[in-house]
Amino acid sequence: MTTKKERYVEAAKEIDAVLDGERNLIARMATVANMLHHAFEHYFWTGFYLVDPETTDELVIGPYQGTLGCLRIPFSKGVCGACATRRETIIVPDVHEFPGHIACDSRSESEIVAPVFDASGRLIAVFDVDSDRKNQFNEDDRIGIERILRRAFAN
Ligand code: SME
Repeated sequence: MTTKKERYVEAAKEIDAVLDGERNLIARMATVANMLHHAFEHYFWTGFYLVDPETTDELVIGPYQGTLGCLRIPFSKGVCGACATRRETIIVPDVHEFPGHIACDSRSESEIVAPVFDASGRLIAVFDVDSDRKNQFNEDDRIGIERILRRAFAN
């Protein structure tokens, strides 16, 4: 049986191959969301919230897979907002215990949100994965996701 770590390494290679030569940001985000969503069973909602250039303190929905996502999240709200403010990955084992958590889908039970930086180190988005079960994300997810985001958006 392959471990989660090995599956992230495999997914990273597959994503690299599909993204090769594609420069459009939305195309790249849509591909990462799609491929990761279908590579892991514990992914229930998978997608990007973009830093809205018109407001700069609000996130706006980007490419995603899963049920309907909220359209906008202020930096001051939810796990996504906290990630954008702190500029670091946040793992939430039980969303009901995270103050200010935003439930776009009430089936969400645990989540991980990672910041997305461009090549100059500017925060351009956050990448959010929700599971419909508690305690689904750990360091293997953090390391695997951060590595894929670096290769796809900070190169
Ligand atoms: N749970 C997130 C909101 C986004 S979705 O669940 C798709 C949050 O608290 O930021």
